[in-house]
Amino acid sequence: MSSDTLKQQAARFAVDLIESGMVIGLGSGSTVKFALAEIASRSHSRRIEGILGVPSSSETQRIARKLGLALTSLDEHPQPDINIDGADEVDPQLNLIKGGGGALLREKVLAQSSRRNVIIVDAGKLSQRLGDRWPLPVEVLPFASKSVERFLMSQGARVEIRHLADGRPLRTDQGNTIFDAHFGPIEDPEALAALLSARAGILANGLFIGLTDDLIVADHAGIRHLTRTDAPVFR
Ligand code: A5P
Repeated sequence: MSSDTLKQQAARFAVDLIESGMVIGLGSGSTVKFALAEIASRSHSRRIEGILGVPSSSETQRIARKLGLALTSLDEHPQPDINIDGADEVDPQLNLIKGGGGALLREKVLAQSSRRNVIIVDAGKLSQRLGDRWPLPVEVLPFASKSVERFLMSQGARVEIRHLADGRPLRTDQGNTIFDAHFGPIEDPEALAALLSARAGILANGLFIGLTDDLIVADHAGIRHLTRTDAPVFR
């Protein structure tokens, strides 16, 4: 089974949790794209009606519009009923590294605002310790770039600035810079998240701690639906 097939299966399972009339946080990334297509298909065939989406990135907004999904803003609906998003790495406590696509700030706002956070991944994203296989994305105010880079290095990270394919530095939807901070395996994700959150100039870090309510994992054996109360959910 291809990775895309697994992503699609996880996405479909998550979309089963959507009910008519809901406001839905729409995450970003290749897995969420399958969820957007599924939501659009069910809306067009009226299996779900009257839903509104709050996109977490300009890319998700563009795709959702193209699919004909009705959109709204977080100002109009400050507490979405459900938020569906992907992740780069998931640990057994359902903590996450996110931001591989650079949309972490708005994704985190949606995750903290929504009633229920549903994360969809293929089994390749599961990891014993965050940082085992993915650097930590950090969104930084350009004014503070050098200062934050020094700070991250002082905390033991090797720091890379994220670039586009053409060599220009990536700018987020908010016009900020992304650093990929290579900490290696992170012993205490909660403490690191608190440290980074306290540093002015860091607008968001990719550690999503205690925010996942449901994890939908697709692998070759089928779908696993894990909830926070099950944690640790895999070994
Ligand atoms: C976007 O910035 C990220 O947080 C994505 O949610 C994450 O990278 C997962 O993306 P994929 O579904 O493409 O792996």
